Amino acid sequence: MRRFPEGFRWGTASSAYQFEGDNTASDWWAWEQQPGRIRNGDRSGLACDWWRAAERDFDLMVGLHQNACRLSVEWGRLEPHDGAWDAAALARYLQMLRALRERGMEPLITLNHFTLPQWVADRGGWLWDGLPRAFAAFAGRLTRAAGALCDFWVTLNEPVGHLALAYLFGRFAPGRRNPIALARAVVRSVRAHAAAYRAIHAVQPHARVGVAAYLRPAEPAVPSSRLDVWLARRLDHATNWMYLDALATGRLRSPLGIQVAVPEAAGTMDYVGVNYYTRSRVTFDVRRPGSGFVREVPAPGVAQSDGGYGEIYPDGLLTVLRAARRYERPVYVTENGLPDAADRLRPAFIVEHLRRVAQAIAEGVPVRGYYHWAIVDNFEWADGWSLRFGLHALDRRTQARTPRPSAALYGEICRRNALP
Ligand code: FCB
Repeated sequence: MRRFPEGFRWGTASSAYQFEGDNTASDWWAWEQQPGRIRNGDRSGLACDWWRAAERDFDLMVGLHQNACRLSVEWGRLEPHDGAWDAAALARYLQMLRALRERGMEPLITLNHFTLPQWVADRGGWLWDGLPRAFAAFAGRLTRAAGALCDFWVTLNEPVGHLALAYLFGRFAPGRRNPIALARAVVRSVRAHAAAYRAIHAVQPHARVGVAAYLRPAEPAVPSSRLDVWLARRLDHATNWMYLDALATGRLRSPLGIQVAVPEAAGTMDYVGVNYYTRSRVTFDVRRPGSGFVREVPAPGVAQSDGGYGEIYPDGLLTVLRAARRYERPVYVTENGLPDAADRLRPAFIVEHLRRVAQAIAEGVPVRGYYHWAIVDNFEWADGWSLRFGLHALDRRTQARTPRPSAALYGEICRRNALP
């Protein structure tokens, strides 16, 4: 048995837009209605019905012996128009937070998990120069309202990956394909994080605030190719470390070496949030200038989860946890999971990834918690309902939940605070 440290946080992760349903004041609502944006023409609709009944899944979490839960709030619900707060929406969020506390779970609240209020999107979204100020005002106001129930915050979820999908690859709202826009959005995002970090700390000095970074090790497909090695290093810096380095140092260094000073961001990371799913194996492809000459080459003969989501590669989690040590902060695995409707691979996936977490702790990496994505199947952005990440299967018509075998396994690990 591998025991985890006393007080280790065992949770599941979620986001408002993917779980609540009917987030009509958010930019993704309009985006979803555009033909061709979501696989199979799916819609988020009622999602997992959390706005009315999140407590049903909170009960499932208690059944799994979780002591923690990561969830997000929908900015567009709380502030559907600039400066105008919705009192009923705030009351519902406070009710959800109390419901978690009553069930013995510590909330970790994400302030922005990809979606923006439509009024922010209309002003230019991540390119709007008023965004950092508006986001910080929102963060401060929420901290004042909810600070008695929560002191643990993620400002932004996967800022780099999200902005790349939104401004370079065109797959997420607002669907741009423009590297200059991406660069500007990344700078704006660092400023927004820094402003929110300071707004939260002004209200709640003891708060723990960070980002949940999508960390994906990049390796050369052909290790003897100098071009592939160079490309993998550039990609590794851009996807994994560029943004976190900026929160440590106040300097944003682009993959080609251009530096932008963002002094207000220096020292705005109280912990490192790690979202880990898979790795990249890349080769230089001259026919792909639009993707930075990157072509992904899946490793031959390895286990793949559903829908081409990527290779199952537990060692990559150890790699990024070791690397996260450089920031000298506590580390949380804020997401980890896989799409696997048949639950064929998930049990071994959970055990193997947690083995790497235990290994990292044994080596001295201060990992303090693990949040599995997700308690139940949910709306998977551009992939719609086609990818099933849940420990429980969801029947969208009846909202019935059916545990997959991994649910009991994960619950047993949480209960014992140890790996079998
Ligand atoms: C992560 C996202 C999360 C969910 C999982 C499967 O990258 O943060 O919202 O979509 O992937």
